[in-house]
Amino acid sequence: FSMGALPHEDFLQCLSLRSNDSSTISSVIYTRNNPSYSTVLESTIRNLRFNSTNTPKPLVIVTPSRTSHFQATIYCSRKHGLQIRTRSGGHDYEGLSYVAKVPFVVVEVNFRSVDVDVENRVAWVQAGAILGEVYYRIAEKSRTLSFAGGVFHSIGVGGFISGGGFGLLFRKYGTGGDNVIDAQFIDVNGRILDRKSMGEDLFWAIRGGGGGSFGIVLAWKLKLVPVPATVTVFSVSRTLEQNATQLILRWQEIAHQLPDEMNPDVSMFSVNSTQDGRKTILASFSSLFLGTIDELLPIMQQRFPELGLSSQDCSEMSWIESILYFNQLQNQPLEILLNRTFRNPVGGQYYKIKSDYVKEPISETALNGLFSRLSDEEASSAIIIFMAYGGIMDRIPEDATPFPHRAGNLYKIYYNVNWQEQDNVNSQKYIDWSRRVYNYMTPFVSKSPREAYANYRDLDIGSNNVGITSYTQASVWGRKYFKNNFDRLVQVKTKIDPENFFKHEQSIPPLH
Ligand code: FDA
Repeated sequence: FSMGALPHEDFLQCLSLRSNDSSTISSVIYTRNNPSYSTVLESTIRNLRFNSTNTPKPLVIVTPSRTSHFQATIYCSRKHGLQIRTRSGGHDYEGLSYVAKVPFVVVEVNFRSVDVDVENRVAWVQAGAILGEVYYRIAEKSRTLSFAGGVFHSIGVGGFISGGGFGLLFRKYGTGGDNVIDAQFIDVNGRILDRKSMGEDLFWAIRGGGGGSFGIVLAWKLKLVPVPATVTVFSVSRTLEQNATQLILRWQEIAHQLPDEMNPDVSMFSVNSTQDGRKTILASFSSLFLGTIDELLPIMQQRFPELGLSSQDCSEMSWIESILYFNQLQNQPLEILLNRTFRNPVGGQYYKIKSDYVKEPISETALNGLFSRLSDEEASSAIIIFMAYGGIMDRIPEDATPFPHRAGNLYKIYYNVNWQEQDNVNSQKYIDWSRRVYNYMTPFVSKSPREAYANYRDLDIGSNNVGITSYTQASVWGRKYFKNNFDRLVQVKTKIDPENFFKHEQSIPPLH
């Protein structure tokens, strides 16, 4: 690579000296004058809010093809004062895996192998694999095994498990992080560690304490979980005129008590009413059920008869086909799950996300206020989803992994406002809308702390200052994401990375 008078010249020189084989490292380095730089950078930018000309860009992108490239990049970045942002699938909602306000290097985790061992019900999965690849490789070998991962198939397992990881099976088997039994990890000194050599504290921290704080995860060993050969999915939509409000109020009371074999959701959005062109709200009640239609219907008839679920609303399929269904990819070949190209199922490619936890049912008035905000002009493609908790989440202790949102939650709220390219000049109005809705919800949701889900990263709830992380400041967002687990995360961080090399706007601070 060429050496111009650029600030990262020393860094590049260091990489080539440090690497055992400088010819291979030069082929995995992209500086800004490399013609492929933009293609590589943009390949996994999932939120186009962070792909504008004003977005700070990395000085260098490294796409390691060997473990030694990670080690050299960490060593040389430390030596030359550059920050590292590690990127696996690029889905970070605030773009923290590829945007920083200081000079920085993106380390793209391209290691993607998925090695499934059906007999022992485990899989070694490299951090750069996407969830779709994991599901596909498991399904190739077994129709009755799966992993407790997320719905959206292009999410990277690197970031997903680092932040907890929530999906169709979480009420039955817990979070992704609950289902990890070993890991391969590189620390700030370039040491390659596994569960045994890293010790239980660090192994605990990396399974939910948020990506980008402790080091770089190279691979996870996942526990595979049993699923029936035939599962059922359903989705039933009702407008306000069809009694959606009363159904949601009832859903709030019962959804968390439905069998662990379900993941009941209700999605709410505005649509133009066909009669008079005015807006109405549509509520879509959906779930996976780990069983057949004949097993599901009596349960719903007994617990939630008001919904009137019938066999016409339900479809039976294999577990992996349910992933296609919830990705709105029904009838597509399973191979589509291997496709890393991003396709946002909910509207625009520019978005802002927030989350809340609900401990007490909200009132009809509160719900009506939410509906009226969903009818605002800025919310034309916004979606708000209530996702039921309960099930095994009530039985796993809060400190089992850093993910603390366990017993006592009725449901989580996911707020998604999104927009299209032509609206991007006015993007602030959408972000303001999401802040208004969040403020409006304050009295109805969890308090002290107002809990939030780490994987739904939201810098509005607090962030570290550039270059400095103070425990007090970090506690503001840290307790929302991790509750009392935050203190143990700080202890682990202090031990593994006392000089705070791995840092970002919401990284765990060490104690000084
Ligand atoms: P990305 O590469 O952006 O990394 C996210 C964070 O982890 C960054 O801080 C990054 O530095 C760090 N990181 C990445 N790789 C690392 C590694 N190997 N070692 C250490 N740190 C690493 N969540 C969920 O739980 N359930 C769901 O169903 C969904 N659905 C969903 C849909 C869509 C469309 C989006 C955009 C996002 C979600 N999410 C989600 C949220 C998602 O789980 C979250 O953004 C993950 O962090 C994404 O992981 P990636 O590897 O893709 O992101």
